Amino acid sequence: MDNDKQVTLSRGLFIFTAVVGALYLPLALNYTWPLFGTGVPRWQDDVNTAINGRGYALGDGSVDAVRHQAYAEHRVVLLVHTTLGALALTLAMFQFSARIRERWPAVHRWNGRSYLALMTISMLTALIFLYVTPPARHFIGPAFETQLRGLAVGTLASAWYALYAIRKRDMVTHRAWMTYSIAFMLTAPLLRFIWIGIQPVIPQHDVLTNIGVGSLILGVVAPGGAAVAFIASRQAPSDEADTAAPVWRYGAAVALAVLGSLTYTGLTSRLPEPIPHSLVAFHLVPVWISIAMALLGVARARARDNVARERQWRWLLWGFAAAPLSASLYSLIVPPDFTAADAIIAGGMDGAAIPITICFAVIVRAAARARAEGPGPLAAAETASAA
Ligand code: HEM
Repeated sequence: MDNDKQVTLSRGLFIFTAVVGALYLPLALNYTWPLFGTGVPRWQDDVNTAINGRGYALGDGSVDAVRHQAYAEHRVVLLVHTTLGALALTLAMFQFSARIRERWPAVHRWNGRSYLALMTISMLTALIFLYVTPPARHFIGPAFETQLRGLAVGTLASAWYALYAIRKRDMVTHRAWMTYSIAFMLTAPLLRFIWIGIQPVIPQHDVLTNIGVGSLILGVVAPGGAAVAFIASRQAPSDEADTAAPVWRYGAAVALAVLGSLTYTGLTSRLPEPIPHSLVAFHLVPVWISIAMALLGVARARARDNVARERQWRWLLWGFAAAPLSASLYSLIVPPDFTAADAIIAGGMDGAAIPITICFAVIVRAAARARAEGPGPLAAAETASAA
């Protein structure tokens, strides 16, 4: 990929984060105000009501119905979480701007530090909220709680690791894990867009079930999106010594994905009423779309004899291919007080991120090592922009 395409992708990420952040920022900021006084408008619920009707937005099985008491009891914790989370996300979009990085590196640095501070307090308050409140009384409640805990820890760990990397002047690792952290932060608005936007497609679901739907989708899309953005926005490290992989390896990855998909489908077919068995689709469809995308990346790299790029897509393919089996295995290691249904849903929400993140880490490490061993023109440009 040439420099022009990288700038285009960087701008694309900037615009995507800006649009998502701008649309959601007012709703997030306003969310807790009604908890401090009567008569204050509730913009998120108003938007949801306007699109899907009052029954969906505020009736049985809505966030309001099952969480209002917990939110009211811990309104200060929630206020800090939502306000600082919204501000952190606003700052995050500027980190993708290549122009700011290049022309005003000090702005990039101070913006990054502010993001880190706001995000850290927002995630810690999210963890405090989860610690002091029981899960929502709904079949997705316990599983969703495990995903939120994982998200908070993943967002914190990736951003602080990115800081550690830049202190060691490791630009590749820094950018990669900042992208990962911001992708996790973006799950907050994206989840709301899904639970508000998907209702016309599956009108039989209540809001909480659609939060489950969104969580299953984002369990694949958030870490996978960060990995795809990282690969697509960088030149592959040159590695002439390597040769193209034999085709059977791709067949093996697809076979693993088929095995995992059948196993996880078998598990979800045991979910008791009223849990819809169709939930499995919201895990498997994003997984298979991601697999197709990785295979496309492989095919294009092979067509160009770009062995290093092919290897990056192949590693990511393994992450996606292992996701359904990881979801099935994760169902076995959840807390002992979980029911079988809690465990199976938690597997779908949390399991995919594990192999995708491991493969992402391997890709980043190889790219960082290659850059440290022999800086090409791209690395030199990156060093200049970071100075
Ligand atoms: C990705 C990391 C994040 C985690 C782990 C997280 C965690 C949480 C938790 C635990 C709750 C309470 C949910 C419950 O149990 O009922 C919550 C609610 C909320 N969070 Fe976050 N959050 C994250 C990011 C964000 C961001 C970036 C924003 C703002 C842009 C935000 C805005 C909100 C809002 C408005 C609520 C109120 C519930 C609702 O919208 O229905 N969160 N979050």
